[in-house]
Amino acid sequence: MQVRLAKDAPNAVRAGAIVVPVYSDGELTGAAKALDATLDGAIADVRSSGEMKGKLAELALIHAKNQPFHRVLLVGLGDEAKAEPYHLARLAGAAVRYLGRRGIGDIAIALPPSVQGHELMSASFVAEGAIAVTFDTTMYQAKPDKSSKVDTVTILAGDLDVKALEAGIARGTILGEAVNFARRLALTPANDMTPTDLAKEAKKSSKAAGVDIEILDKEQIEKEGMGSFLSVAQGSAQPPKFIVMTYEGNPHSKEKLALVGKGITFDTGGISLKPPERMEEMKYDMSGGAAVIAAMAAIGKLKPKINVIGLVPATENMPGGKATKPGDIVKAMNGKTIEVINTDAEGRLILCDALCYAAKLGATKIIDTATLTGAVVISLGHAASAAVSNDDAFVQEFLARAKATGERYWQMPLYEDYSTAMKSDIADLKNTGGRPAGTLTAGAFLKAFVDDKTPWIHLDIAGTAYLDNESAWQAKGPTGTPVRALVTFAESLSS
Ligand code: BES
Ligand code: MN
Ligand code: ZN
Repeated sequence: MQVRLAKDAPNAVRAGAIVVPVYSDGELTGAAKALDATLDGAIADVRSSGEMKGKLAELALIHAKNQPFHRVLLVGLGDEAKAEPYHLARLAGAAVRYLGRRGIGDIAIALPPSVQGHELMSASFVAEGAIAVTFDTTMYQAKPDKSSKVDTVTILAGDLDVKALEAGIARGTILGEAVNFARRLALTPANDMTPTDLAKEAKKSSKAAGVDIEILDKEQIEKEGMGSFLSVAQGSAQPPKFIVMTYEGNPHSKEKLALVGKGITFDTGGISLKPPERMEEMKYDMSGGAAVIAAMAAIGKLKPKINVIGLVPATENMPGGKATKPGDIVKAMNGKTIEVINTDAEGRLILCDALCYAAKLGATKIIDTATLTGAVVISLGHAASAAVSNDDAFVQEFLARAKATGERYWQMPLYEDYSTAMKSDIADLKNTGGRPAGTLTAGAFLKAFVDDKTPWIHLDIAGTAYLDNESAWQAKGPTGTPVRALVTFAESLSS
């Protein structure tokens, strides 16, 4: 899909359809007002009839046979007072999905007048939303679903700042493509997305984005002393890979942001085997790693003035003959010993070594992301990811930036109690803290592998990395969370 810009007046646009935003309250404004005049009050009619309330992403189609734009698709933007810039991504997504499924290939999108002064981010959201909604989940079918026919989206510039709109389109295209890349990596089944495959994908995307990449193999991982990571990998016939991506955007800065993603390409639970029901979903257990790989690609293309490293420990969690057994004690890279109570709590066992490695590479700030606990789905459902941190100012800054992307995060506490729950009788730590507060005991475990002075955030995305239901603007399946938040936050650190 191509997203481009045109100066045409709304009523002169040549397209299969023109997409027109309408708020749920107030007078018609901007393109809605102009086209309403062209169409003899048809838009005002749709609203006054009550057929369309203007709720966010609500749709109403008007045919305009003798007009160059053929159809008007009204898309709700909700209550204007509660408008958020990211709503434009939902608007564009809903429009592309609806029109694309009806065989329309070429659409124009009018922006609401309120985007004046916010052109860059507005265009970015439109491009991101339009591209992300075309993510196709049927690539394994004999006839893949090419249901979206939309190949050109034209944003109508009106008298808005063209330069800023152009820059926004470029950014949104990079971000939307990164989101879809992360989703493809996650969706691909584990037989086609082994640690080796994931490393190959990272190599390809990093090289294309000008990001340096190194893949540590098993011997190198052993040399680094990542005994905890290796204890998860030893039950699998697939060799583990440790993916290290380096983006240097500010050689004068000592600041280095580390993004760390869980790369379990399949989680059987290991010897603490999971029940079969919905186990196939555990192909998504590398969603955090996929997001980090995709975010690094986007960062490489967007070139913020900041240094970022991306780390993804990748392995299967399998119950092979050499697998770690409950009760085994393993040693992490920093020398801490861990009693493995449950081999299904494997994410923290691979992340702890990656956190140590981030410190070794000189990370000054760390964000890790993982489909870490089923408990987070009990706490927050599929509505938000959990965020825990050792630094309140850092996490507040992240939450504010992340909120603007439309992805949802909710901070939870890391009381000392949760660290106490992770103490082992015979090792430094154990890898499970029992049923209560499972997300937070997992967070407390990870915290033990981060220097107190290094600001760190852990994002548990087990409830948000993939969804059972589609929405107007998003296919069901993998969501690409937290690519948007990671990229946006990295940009905000640019100096
Ligand atoms: N990958 C799972 C967490 C998960 C569960 C992700 C559901 C997505 C959906 C993780 O490795 C796991 O198995 N966690 C255990 C930890 C427990 C044994 C302490 C869990 O949450 O049950
Ligand atoms: Mn597990
Ligand atoms: Zn897992």
